[in-house]
Amino acid sequence: MFQAPVVPRLRKRSRAVEAGIQRHEEVKFEDVRLYLVEKKMGRSRRSFLTQLARSKGFIVDDILSDKVTHVVSEDSQASSLWAWLNGCGLKNLPMMQVLDISWFTDSMGAGRPVAVESRHLIQDTLPTLPEGSPPTAVATVSQYACQRRTTIENNNKIFTDAFEVLAESYEFNENEGPCLAFRRAASVLKSLPWAVECLGATEDLPCLGDHTKAVMEEILLYGRSLQVESILSNERYQTLKLFTSVFGVGPKTAEKWYRRGLRSFSDILAEPSIQLNRMQQTGFLHYGDISRAVSKAEARALGNIIDEAVHAITPDAILALTGGFRRGKEFGHDVDFIVTALELGKEESLLLDIIDRLKHHGILLYCDYQASTFDISKLPSHRFEAMDHFAKCFLILRLEGSQVDGGLNIAEGDSRGWRGVRVDLVSPPVDRYAYALLGWTGSRQFERDLRRFARSEKRMLLDNHALYDKRKKEFLAATTEKDIFAHLGLEYIEPWQRNA
Ligand code: CTP
Ligand code: MN
Ligand code: MN
Repeated sequence: MFQAPVVPRLRKRSRAVEAGIQRHEEVKFEDVRLYLVEKKMGRSRRSFLTQLARSKGFIVDDILSDKVTHVVSEDSQASSLWAWLNGCGLKNLPMMQVLDISWFTDSMGAGRPVAVESRHLIQDTLPTLPEGSPPTAVATVSQYACQRRTTIENNNKIFTDAFEVLAESYEFNENEGPCLAFRRAASVLKSLPWAVECLGATEDLPCLGDHTKAVMEEILLYGRSLQVESILSNERYQTLKLFTSVFGVGPKTAEKWYRRGLRSFSDILAEPSIQLNRMQQTGFLHYGDISRAVSKAEARALGNIIDEAVHAITPDAILALTGGFRRGKEFGHDVDFIVTALELGKEESLLLDIIDRLKHHGILLYCDYQASTFDISKLPSHRFEAMDHFAKCFLILRLEGSQVDGGLNIAEGDSRGWRGVRVDLVSPPVDRYAYALLGWTGSRQFERDLRRFARSEKRMLLDNHALYDKRKKEFLAATTEKDIFAHLGLEYIEPWQRNA
């Protein structure tokens, strides 16, 4: 890391190629090529410092390339600087000195590049490297979401938004291969603590095929993808997207309606031969409310309501927030809770009692209760993505504005003072609690990859009920999520790092 001071060599730079960069000043230090980072420094100060350094015989490049030897920044936040550098697609980054402005001012004062000392270095804090690995090693990104840490901060939204449109469009066409490929690619990019600034930066990333890279290249060059734009303006895509936004309407039903020439909600409601089921009727009835995002404050208010109901019935019941809000999301499409009774077998009546109580309070707008079909003797299930067998209910609750800190997330001009919110409750037996919590915390992609990892890497079967070791032919008990990660030989990933 430490570098001997460079011996000055006097020579007039002759080639005009560098002229745009280095103009007429005498170059004294051929082996040192500086780049000053504009962020935090600002344009005018950067320009001033550039001139100053050049007048003292330093080479200062305006563009960051692999030729640069010393990167100088005034950004005191190492993580954001490194995030940016990692996204620049430099091959030579591990060899570059990434330095604090103090190295620059010391060098200007000395009139020569001073030796780099540890106090000058801006250390890369992300990603954390395993102990003992060389300081320049780049941590590899796993192909499994359960071996990546993905927070809600997405540095690559311009790409992942495009991938999600493509994935959805392939899903509407029942083309599973490319659909999954784009979902996996989006998930990998979401896990990066830096933004991809050029295609070279994606070289070592898993799950990015030619098609995904072509889309990324277009976005990098033109800021948009023609394929994505053509999907977004496609009538079939728009209609299927609209229809599936209704609670109770899946891609199959949406497709059926589209084929019959229906294009809008009024087309559907005016069509006498269409029999909406109870869920779909509710979907249309409460469309405005349940297509509107639920805020964290609303989720908290609902938590209080459910908590009151649960503990009025069974004082020692366990209630936990799960789903997207447990992962730290600011908004969700619903609020998910898991509830169980300490006494095995009591959990089912608990759910029915909660429903009764909510009804009694006059806040139950819709309830779809599904009794438990859980049978331990039918495990392990070989069906990937299979629904679980726990007692559960899908609800719409009436939430009063007065119960929400900062008020409801409603449209301007909505003066009802309340809104409907989708709430999911699942109620596993207490000995299945850890597995149910892990399964219902999501994200969907994280869960898919947990199961894929278990199957492909460990010869184990994981679902919302249990973990089965096929080699040992036994079920593995767990009381916490940490136990499950440990059984799988995985580092524990916190809920807020599961936003894959
Ligand atoms: N889930 C499940 N079985 C169901 C319904 C949901 O295992 N019958 C799981 C999903 O796999 C997901 C989690 O429960 O991991 C939460 O589902 P959902 O509410 O649909 O998604 P969120 O991640 O909470 O996203 P949002 O904020 O949009 O609600
Ligand atoms: Mn949810
Ligand atoms: Mn849900």
